[in-house]
Amino acid sequence: MNKTHNHIPALITIFGATGDLSHRKLFPSLFHLFQQDNLDDRIAIVGIGRRQLTVDDFRAQVKASIQAHVHDTKHLDQFMQHVFYQQLDVNNEASYQELLDLSNELDRQFCLDGNRLFYLAMAPQFFGVVTDYLKASGLTKTTGFKRLVIEKPFGTDLKSAEALNQQIRRSFKEEEIFRIDHYLGKDMVQNIEVLRFSNAMFEPLWNNKYISNIQVTSSEVLGVEDRGGYYESSGALKDMVQNHMLQMVALLAMEPPISLHSDDIRSEKVKVLKSLNVLEPEEVRHNFVRGQYDAGEIDGQSVIGYREEDKVAEDSTTPTFVAGKVMINNFRWAGVPFYIRTGKRMKRKCIQVVVEFKEVPMNLYYDKDQHLDSNLLVINIQPNEGVSIHLNGKKYVQGIETEPVQLSYSMSAQDKMNTVDAYENLLYDCLKGDATNFTHWEELKSTWKFVDAVQEAWNKFEPEFPNYPSGTNGPLESHLLLSRDGFKWWEDIQ
Ligand code: BG6
Repeated sequence: MNKTHNHIPALITIFGATGDLSHRKLFPSLFHLFQQDNLDDRIAIVGIGRRQLTVDDFRAQVKASIQAHVHDTKHLDQFMQHVFYQQLDVNNEASYQELLDLSNELDRQFCLDGNRLFYLAMAPQFFGVVTDYLKASGLTKTTGFKRLVIEKPFGTDLKSAEALNQQIRRSFKEEEIFRIDHYLGKDMVQNIEVLRFSNAMFEPLWNNKYISNIQVTSSEVLGVEDRGGYYESSGALKDMVQNHMLQMVALLAMEPPISLHSDDIRSEKVKVLKSLNVLEPEEVRHNFVRGQYDAGEIDGQSVIGYREEDKVAEDSTTPTFVAGKVMINNFRWAGVPFYIRTGKRMKRKCIQVVVEFKEVPMNLYYDKDQHLDSNLLVINIQPNEGVSIHLNGKKYVQGIETEPVQLSYSMSAQDKMNTVDAYENLLYDCLKGDATNFTHWEELKSTWKFVDAVQEAWNKFEPEFPNYPSGTNGPLESHLLLSRDGFKWWEDIQ
């Protein structure tokens, strides 16, 4: 490897290092960064877990999961020399002392300049305890930077999020906290901003004068898998809407920032999220739909209903699907619905944005009963990655009739092979200290306020669940949500 970098040395301490996220995402991403020469040689990674493991045992586990997730494992042995393990009981102060000794030792050995990044990939009930002990033990008292990377869920409502935030802020300043929303690490989500602000043709139309509605979908084929325990207390509203869905809305709706500096971008996002129209309880019924999957068929295979899943109550009222109409109270967006939709066990995996434009002011081509097709801008985030524009063109027959035409850009197979995982982008950003693609506390405050209002209204009456078979596009009410406004979900469009 030819390392001519000026990267940043750091000690990366991962709490929850034997867990699923670490094995599937964090270690493979760190390895890939290392292999691509995007990580300094002066790096040490300490995995923290409850179990008593030797460094060799741990390295063997990490190596196996990297081999399972990364195609090209060149330089893997070299990378493994940077990986260490520390058994730690999160509630035991003495354990942190041992971690401090190891950290100081690695700092000397790898010349890390005292830079420390703590990654909490663990159950959220430990977030506060760990940060308190990190400070009390002296681990955060360091000559270099200290940063905290924290996974979701950040609280279960505004009140608990506030309490957690206060606790964490005892040990880390806001600018040292990197709250992960992995959707913000996806290349095509990052591309929303680039498309909007680097092309002259979209921004002049990007308002309530020309756009009739915007649809944001994240549908999954997978069910709840082995996460029933967590999901029962969360459900689609808190698991997906409070974070990923509203973050995408913020990127679509924000004003152009004055620069690409993280503070400038985040302050525009905060403004939009503060303008979300928080629903009154009686409005929730007409603007939000909840659903839960029943048994059904996906790709010819029978699958069980949510209530039959492991660690799920037989009479569970947890929603696995949410569709909602989100309004933004500001000049640009007054009157334009943002429809959001997310669910498990749906027909296909698809993360997509559809921007639907208003009709031209006068239809020259048809008499009054016939409509021209809507112009659409489709942003495909996953699994397809690209953009398409749907226009009307002339039909190749005598006379003047229109037909839909589509201009598409989709990432080539070769580009796709080089696409990095969202976690790789995010890990790289937090090592650089770039917080742009992380959630600021002010954003969280607004999204929780919005989501709490929906949840409180839902708590007042029991849903009739299950209400959609697995393998479908969700409950019927989700379609009525749009048809009442004269719109439809743009299904199966690319
Ligand atoms: C996570 C949720 O944040 O996002 C999961 O907790 C969900 O329930 C996942 O499956 C979806 O992520 P992606 O990147 O596959 O769309």
